[in-house]
Amino acid sequence: MTLWGGRFSQKLDDLAWTLNASLPVDQRMALQDVDGSLAWADAIHKAGILSDEEHGQITRGLAAVREEFASGRFSFVPSDEDIHTAVERRLGELIGAAAGKLHTGRSRNDQVATDFRLWMLQAIPELDAALKDLQSALVEQAELAGETLMPGYTHLQRAQPILLAHWWLSHFHPLQRDRQRLADLTKRVSVLPLGCGALAGTSVPVDRAALAESLGFAEPAPNSLDAVSDRDFAAEFLFCAAMTGVHLSKLAEQIVLYASAEFGFFELSDAYSTGSSLMPQKKNPDVFELTRGKAGALLGLLTGLLATLKGLPSTYDKDLQEDKAPVFQAVDALLMILPVLAGALRTIAAKPERMRAAIDSFMMATDLADYLVGKGIPFRETHAIAGKAVRAAAEKGIGLDQMPLEAYQALSPAFEADVYQVFDPLESVKRRNAIGGASPQSVKNQITQITNRQLSKGEKSCLQ
Ligand code: ARG
Repeated sequence: MTLWGGRFSQKLDDLAWTLNASLPVDQRMALQDVDGSLAWADAIHKAGILSDEEHGQITRGLAAVREEFASGRFSFVPSDEDIHTAVERRLGELIGAAAGKLHTGRSRNDQVATDFRLWMLQAIPELDAALKDLQSALVEQAELAGETLMPGYTHLQRAQPILLAHWWLSHFHPLQRDRQRLADLTKRVSVLPLGCGALAGTSVPVDRAALAESLGFAEPAPNSLDAVSDRDFAAEFLFCAAMTGVHLSKLAEQIVLYASAEFGFFELSDAYSTGSSLMPQKKNPDVFELTRGKAGALLGLLTGLLATLKGLPSTYDKDLQEDKAPVFQAVDALLMILPVLAGALRTIAAKPERMRAAIDSFMMATDLADYLVGKGIPFRETHAIAGKAVRAAAEKGIGLDQMPLEAYQALSPAFEADVYQVFDPLESVKRRNAIGGASPQSVKNQITQITNRQLSKGEKSCLQ
């Protein structure tokens, strides 16, 4: 039995039925559908639609349905068009005629939007916890790295030495922004559509503010037409997921590169790498490649939903049934990737000697210019002098640290024997001591701020 057969004389074509049915997707919202119905039963009981007895029957019946879902004993039947139909059908089997009163004043339009929002309100904290755990893995690696030096790149060209710890933490902060975005999004998910009916509102005098509170929503939606069609929260969520995908992909790409023989900065644990069916020597970074690959699909889910929403006329249109699959897919993809990435990062081994060997004296050319700034010469001039030194050394095929003092003094009389100190990469890093810089002190402060202190007013320590 469908919920809408009355005005039809012919049954729906079989294939059209399959196209129309959303149960395969929306059965994931079974518990939310039951919870929404329990709250609705309370609301229409208070509004005088259900007698005490009917309310008791419906409440007990729904509790039994909930239990069937929770224990995996619920059986769907072929006529269950969607999760709402399935729940109401089963309730009828359990309690009889009173079940027919539950849908009074309600439409599947406000119901499905409510279920979806309830589902997201439980999925967001799960995602947040997985992001937080990945952040912890990054901080653990940063702490482990101590004062390990590595080359920093711009344009993928050797630029300046940095601390490995600083590099690890550079992947922490994007995830922090992702978590802030999810927290902010939660405010907009937490708006209740139930009690808006099909589009024009419900004729039952329900207290929607109390209904919102009973379901854990911050407030009832203020406009029924908007409430049944608003899927901004789903699109916003898909943006959050896509942005996280981009962050994870960037991290993954760098690990793939740094784990190659050419860089050799990292060695992946056997537990998180795979082999080749043909080449016995291969140890492949599949986990990171799959992360990078899945990020592409996450971007597609966002553009797909935006395209579905674009051009829809006001209120509910069946196109909106296409909203849930992309959100479920995005959540599934992230909850699959994040714990594996955390494990892969916790077990990766850094190769400090390879990192150190990739730092050449030319990466301290800025320090050379800064050295002359210390002797009172304007930076524009010192930049040019250091540039000439680089050219001279490169032409001779030697490092900046191998150029004789006379050669330096020929470029500027301000050079003295202490110039060679600038080529110590650790000293170079130590000079970058302002907030946010790569110096050991600055990185230590960063870790302290992350682990102990409030990042900004009203925000808890990132890892709590
Ligand atoms: N399965 C539908 C969805 O996911 C439920 C709402 C159906 N509403 C309707 N008027 N047919 O959007």
